[in-house]
Amino acid sequence: MEFDQTWLTSEVVERSIGGKSFYFDDLPEENEVSLRLRSEILGWGRARITSDKEDAEIILRVRPGVLATDESYRLESSEGVISVIGNTSRGILYGFYSMVRRMINHQGLNFESTPSQPIRMIDHWDQIDGTIERGYAGESLFFGQYGKNSNPDRKEFSVRDVVGDPFRRDYQRVEFYARMLSSIGINAVSLNNVNVRGLATFLITDPLLDGVADIAQIFTSFGIKTYLAINWEAPKRIKQIKTSDPLDQEVRDFWKEIARNIYNRIPDFGGFVVKADSEGEPGPYQYKRTHADGANMLAEAVEPYGGHIFWRTFVYNSRQDWRDRSTDRAKASSENFLPLDGQFKENVSLQIKFGPIDFQTSEPLTPLFGGLKRTNQVMEFQITAEYLGHQIDINYIVPQWKKVISFDTKYRDVGDSVASCILKEHAIDPEKTGFTSVGNVGMDYNWTGNKLSQANLYGYGRLSWDNELTPEEILDEWINQTFLSIQPKYRKTIYEIMITSNETYKKYNAPLGIGFMVVPSSHYGVSVNGYEYDRWGTYHFADRNGVGVDRSVATGTGFSGLYSDEVARMYEDPATTPDDVLLFFHHVPYTHVLQSGETVIQHIYNTHFDGYEGVLDYIKKWSTLEGVIDEIDYSNVARRLQLQKQNALEWRDQINTYFYRMSGIADEHNRTIYE
Ligand code: GCU
Repeated sequence: MEFDQTWLTSEVVERSIGGKSFYFDDLPEENEVSLRLRSEILGWGRARITSDKEDAEIILRVRPGVLATDESYRLESSEGVISVIGNTSRGILYGFYSMVRRMINHQGLNFESTPSQPIRMIDHWDQIDGTIERGYAGESLFFGQYGKNSNPDRKEFSVRDVVGDPFRRDYQRVEFYARMLSSIGINAVSLNNVNVRGLATFLITDPLLDGVADIAQIFTSFGIKTYLAINWEAPKRIKQIKTSDPLDQEVRDFWKEIARNIYNRIPDFGGFVVKADSEGEPGPYQYKRTHADGANMLAEAVEPYGGHIFWRTFVYNSRQDWRDRSTDRAKASSENFLPLDGQFKENVSLQIKFGPIDFQTSEPLTPLFGGLKRTNQVMEFQITAEYLGHQIDINYIVPQWKKVISFDTKYRDVGDSVASCILKEHAIDPEKTGFTSVGNVGMDYNWTGNKLSQANLYGYGRLSWDNELTPEEILDEWINQTFLSIQPKYRKTIYEIMITSNETYKKYNAPLGIGFMVVPSSHYGVSVNGYEYDRWGTYHFADRNGVGVDRSVATGTGFSGLYSDEVARMYEDPATTPDDVLLFFHHVPYTHVLQSGETVIQHIYNTHFDGYEGVLDYIKKWSTLEGVIDEIDYSNVARRLQLQKQNALEWRDQINTYFYRMSGIADEHNRTIYE
């Protein structure tokens, strides 16, 4: 194979189902998924299918209506025979992969499971020329003619003109990817970047739909729906209509025709993902229409076919003047979307980044969750590590996500006000809620640039399926499957590095929730003032007295008032604001004492020295794996650790020096801070 087998290696197969006999009991009908299941058993699973029930070691049973949802499954084990039961073949497919996982992880085979989130999606930011916006693992799996990996993240976002067929058509690779996704419960993918540039606008039309259909067919067989991101100006660009006004009849007819044609070709097509009026993209505001007008118009076009619209709330003024203190980017999505609550159609879901700004190392939950009461919502994450080390620095992100989804919004009007539950509580169609995330794979041999970043894809899927899982459990599973043959003590070493890695990265990054002290545009590496006088609305306001953004109601931008009363009270007061978002909400003196007992300035020094030491420790630990794990994996991570060390060193020294110069306060422990 020309690519890494991730957590689905032949060793995993051999130790679980390899050679075993499967029997299909009462399959009501064959469909794409049941056929795939058969080929998975025979091909990837290296097992047998028997027509004699007595001979079966594993029995697959479709029992419509027995389980809670059509994706649920039940495993039963008795007298040496395992049964996998589902309402549909999709349920059984999930049960099949779960059985393999549970065998490897010795988790017991009497088990029933229903996904926590109905929508478990990955958004690809893949571009028609083969590049991936914010991609750190090579070229796109779907598009590209420029040869494997010649065109990775270029740190600029234009798209080249494409001559000829833009599709990569490496179906072996797409099939393995679909297997990876299905094995962790992902049920939807969007293929192309939300910034729909160049020829990508035409993906929704012939002849490009052919290539989309070929990819979609593979995903469908793994129970995964395919979506496309669209360009709001498609009516103008594709059909030279003079406007893209959502209330214009010609525009509405255009989208209906587009939908009709797509569903003719791809009957189970998912629908559209839309980034509108954001960071220079066109949208309904140009025509003085609301985002509800825009989303509902598209929703109507796909409705006859059961289609679905994901409308992103990442809408803000990206042309701000740093001198103007009246705008606060954190408030933008609430200002744009709270007034529209209840106006979106049933087949629209608002796609909402989990934090109010942009996937930083530490952000509060956005107040839209809980604030919106009658709107379908999906929570958006970013697996690709745009602000989290570019899949160079080791960063197992699941602990951060877990914290986000466990945040209690304290809304008293609902049964369960925790972030992961509020989505359903406030939906008009609870089935249209869930999680979505920007993906992190590319054509690199190991899919994710850094081998260890595979754990983030794995973890995102597992956590989306089961919100109760802990980051520790998920990491254990991933390591067991991925490094199956090494001794437990070595697996423990990998575990120890990864479980602390999100915290370590956070330690040497921008402190206490302030965010964005990164190199502009690329977003890797430190640049304390990189965005400070820029137009993107992300400032730290450090001066000689203190640092942080005052977002209180009393003296600041008023952002903290957007939460439920109880949460708003907590964020209003620096004394009750959790340390890790303190500077997101307040401008405080360097001598302010944190809940941890440290002063802000001493915390900055301590964490930055610690973070760097943490990386040195990882290097030491990783070196014990030489000759133990596969050489390709060993050197892949070893090389990246050297880059991470350099990165952490720069962060440490620039942040420490900057704040020392600003505050004039020395480190209590007299460590070296460059003047
Ligand atoms: C960030 C990111 C962009 C991306 C945008 C989005 O701003 O840097 O590359 O297009 O998010 O989510 O739309």
